[in-house]
Amino acid sequence: RKRVMKISTGSKQFDTILGGGFQTMSISEVFGEFRCGKTQLAHTMSVIAQLPKDLGGAEGKVAYIGMSLIIDQMDAMLTANADTEGTFRPERIAQIAERFGVDPETAQDNITYARAVNSEHQMELLNKVAEYFVGNEYRLLIIDSIMALFRVDYTGRGELNERQQKLNQFLSKLTHVAEALTLLCLVEFNVAVLMTNQVQSDPGASALFAGADGRKPVGGHILAHASATRILLRKGRGEERVAKIQDSPDMPEKEATYIITNGGIND
Ligand code: GTP
Ligand code: MG
Repeated sequence: RKRVMKISTGSKQFDTILGGGFQTMSISEVFGEFRCGKTQLAHTMSVIAQLPKDLGGAEGKVAYIGMSLIIDQMDAMLTANADTEGTFRPERIAQIAERFGVDPETAQDNITYARAVNSEHQMELLNKVAEYFVGNEYRLLIIDSIMALFRVDYTGRGELNERQQKLNQFLSKLTHVAEALTLLCLVEFNVAVLMTNQVQSDPGASALFAGADGRKPVGGHILAHASATRILLRKGRGEERVAKIQDSPDMPEKEATYIITNGGIND
């Protein structure tokens, strides 16, 4: 039988506002501006998910979907705040593994990494991970960052009706992503889904992706329906970062501070 597990973030304060960590059989979305630690959180949790339960882990494997962005595509995004890396860094996994006394190679081997090159491919990969999950003890699925490729593929620069068409295609695709994610974690597998997302604060960027106040996740409410827990990350004082629960089925809207170290997310 499946039992809900909680996977630690690496920060005790962050874990506390989550009620222990990110839950399996649930979708969570962390969103925030560039450099606030979304990718670092994803890397940290990819190691912690493998640890024993008493260390905040779920004793499982990890699937990690990263995005491949090239410079031309970055231009198309019309924003200087674009996710510049969005990709998986094995050497960071090794560093974080050392913090937890885990063999770096073992930690890397337990993470199945795939890089999506466009939004279509991202969808294919999502369907593929479902196959990987069958008969394997996967406990965490990372998608970093879920909207980056959609922004590239569907940012319209053309005529109004052309843009409207792109918008419709985009929304339909997004609905499929949301459905695939919901199926993955709610119905079939004991997996925590953690997706990262950016905020759109550049007024020159496509209205399609803009949040009203720059503190909204890219992609808007369709994706929001798929995520049970949504957390806003932002920069705090000095090196500090702040996590704030925005939507949760069972936790109040509290804040926690954390820092990013060589060993990943910490207090
Ligand atoms: P975008 O993907 O650009 O939207 O940002 P993000 O939210 O994913 O930020 P990310 O998780 O990449 O955090 C970047 C920050 O992490 C940097 O500004 C550094 O402060 C910190 N960081 C990255 N790598 C290391 C490292 O090896 N050691 C330490 N101590 N900090 C690091
Ligand atoms: Mg990132």
